[in-house]
Amino acid sequence: MSQRLQAVKGTRDLLPPDTALWAAVEGAARRVFERYGFHEIRTPIFEETELFARGVGEATDIVGKEMYSFEDKGGRSLTLRPESTAAVCRAYVEHGMQSLPQPVKLFYIGPQFRYERPQKGRYRQFHQIGAELLGGRGAESDVETLLVLVAFLGELGFGDLQVLLNTVGDAESRAAYRDRLVAFLRPHAAELGEDSRRRLDSNPLRILDTKDPDEQAILAGAPRLEDCLTAASRDHFARVRAHLDAFAVPYRIEPRLVRGLDYYTNTVFEIVSQGLGAQNAICGGGAYEGLVEELGGPPTYGVGFAIGEDRLIEVLPQSFRERLQGRGPVVVAAMGKLPAPADGVAPLFALIEELRRAGIPAIEGSGKGGKLFEAAERQRSPYVVFLGEQEQRDGTVTLRELASRAQRTLPRGEAIAELRRLYSPAS
Ligand code: HAM
Repeated sequence: MSQRLQAVKGTRDLLPPDTALWAAVEGAARRVFERYGFHEIRTPIFEETELFARGVGEATDIVGKEMYSFEDKGGRSLTLRPESTAAVCRAYVEHGMQSLPQPVKLFYIGPQFRYERPQKGRYRQFHQIGAELLGGRGAESDVETLLVLVAFLGELGFGDLQVLLNTVGDAESRAAYRDRLVAFLRPHAAELGEDSRRRLDSNPLRILDTKDPDEQAILAGAPRLEDCLTAASRDHFARVRAHLDAFAVPYRIEPRLVRGLDYYTNTVFEIVSQGLGAQNAICGGGAYEGLVEELGGPPTYGVGFAIGEDRLIEVLPQSFRERLQGRGPVVVAAMGKLPAPADGVAPLFALIEELRRAGIPAIEGSGKGGKLFEAAERQRSPYVVFLGEQEQRDGTVTLRELASRAQRTLPRGEAIAELRRLYSPAS
């Protein structure tokens, strides 16, 4: 026997019945996003490497060590998308969407790729449900984006998720803060870990994000970004908070929240779930005022988020799972031995196809007696449809309702009409 091949490390197959859950979550996302005026965009799975280097930032972990980059046969450096915001902004510029009525509100659902160490809730191919609002109006756009996010999570039945909110200021605030932070940390350089020491030069704000308790202790005395905010940034943040209060969106200010991508300005946020442990956010996002321009477009206000769909599904409320478990297919089984088909088509096969053509989901039962009923119940089947020699002769079938165990024999046409009503969308 040849050696068996397996899915690549950090990737996985999504199988039924889980795929139904994924589809239902994505269906809910489409419904809620459309309600808020977001429409779907599908960008390619791979892009020029340059897009992410420029968009996400050379100094980030994503660009520095997590990208699946390769050279294609034409010698281009391409990268499997590690995120989609840069790609959406590229598409906005490429298709001249700045001349459409603003803002342009887009959402996307699809796989992303990062070369990370796989663990619970962390994959190398993972999936995001994200939204971007481009050409917006500052604080109000931030709030509209948060509102669609909260509405979607509410639709899934999440009751207790909290938005962690912070501001990273505008470019001017950040430049001022960067200088003060580096001046404070430089004398502590020897006490910092290797990653943070490197970031002192490349990306000092990211040090704030450290999970290392010793570094956290040093940072307790660090200057605060809040104190370096320009008046405009301060006002922006105040307006976001005032709106969230007015709309009764629960949030918590998290002064250390800086996010791992370079394009953010002012508002940033994450949503964490207890179920996944503190390190695993199910959602991250924020505003980006310079990204579209960085990619060759006009100055454009952008804000958006991406939800990690794999993580979202791991902590999905039971209520949503239950709502999904609707009616299963009818189970069709032979009673006794059926006569051999005269025309070559087995009678059971013919009955199943007849049901399916009438719009009734139907599958062939397996096993006999108790086993058959047990399997049918597990699949939430409402009925077992029996076909025996007698029924075959009379043009009837026997319906067994699983809940009541009541059994009736009736003309085939009548049985089909009855089952059809059961599965019609109105019922
Ligand atoms: P991000 O924080 O890098 O932001 O990713 C968003 C979410 O994707 C995370 O909160 C997490 O749930 C999920 N995620 C990230 N990496 C993995 C992984 N290896 N395995 C499983 N899930 C993962 C962004 O990607 C930004 N583009 C979000 C954004 C949109 N900002 C503005 N607009």
